[in-house]
Amino acid sequence: MARRKKIYEGKAKILYEGPEPGTIVQYFKDDATAFNAQKKDVVDGKGVLNNRLSEYFMTGLNNIGVPTHFIRRLNMREQLVRSCEIIPLEIIVRNFAAGSLSKRLGIEEGTSLPRPIVEYCYKDDKLGDPLVTEEHIAAFGWASQQDMDDILSLALRVNDFMSGVMMAVGINLVDFKIEIGRVYDGDFQRLIIADEISPDSCRLWDIETGQKLDKDVFRRDLGSLTDAYTEVARRLGVMPKNATQITRPTLIN
Ligand code: TMP
Ligand code: ASP
Repeated sequence: MARRKKIYEGKAKILYEGPEPGTIVQYFKDDATAFNAQKKDVVDGKGVLNNRLSEYFMTGLNNIGVPTHFIRRLNMREQLVRSCEIIPLEIIVRNFAAGSLSKRLGIEEGTSLPRPIVEYCYKDDKLGDPLVTEEHIAAFGWASQQDMDDILSLALRVNDFMSGVMMAVGINLVDFKIEIGRVYDGDFQRLIIADEISPDSCRLWDIETGQKLDKDVFRRDLGSLTDAYTEVARRLGVMPKNATQITRPTLIN
């Protein structure tokens, strides 16, 4: 295969120049990191699962009119996406208290929040992605007021969609993180959902048992991350029914 130009390598993905202008190939690695890469491991099959799961969620969003960067899956580990200018914010939506919110405000994990809470972190690994307010975002020009209105509306639509999809398979969407990019159609700019939506970037708890089915399994040493993500994929029908083990993944096409 012809060598492709690598554009960027992150902790969990590599981006390559796409086959047509304005496209990018997003390659999902098996690397798992937590706490700003202080904890690292290779988890067999994670990249394959996240490629499939992100495809599933992004396709669903595209189908209900929430624009995303996803164009199509290319193979087990790669998808073609629309190139965009990433807004340097991590947008977090929370339905239940967990993680840094619980720590920061002393609210017990699992407490149902009175309404979805949207938070913004400035995307900078060196600073550990600090929480910022809309004042910082406006003052430093990371996004305009119109962008912020659009970001809030996109984040809440993603929350409604993802909560419904998960609830239908017995999972509570506790919280999640998305990234948003700018694309230009002629003179107009639009915002689209970018990066990935996967159990790496969500908290997913089984409704009956509370079992964690997301990256907290790795962060907190709770067992096999591959088993947890496989369970999410199996419930969503992204895996064949008889596939129970996937150290060497056997996902359907
Ligand atoms: P937090 O409770 O650690 O702030 O995480 C909130 C949500 O954001 C959780 O679903 C995990 C996700 N997340 C990421 O996707 N990337 C990150 O770097 C962090 C810190 C959290
Ligand atoms: N994504 C971050 C890291 O790789 C933090 C996390 O997800 O916990 O370190």
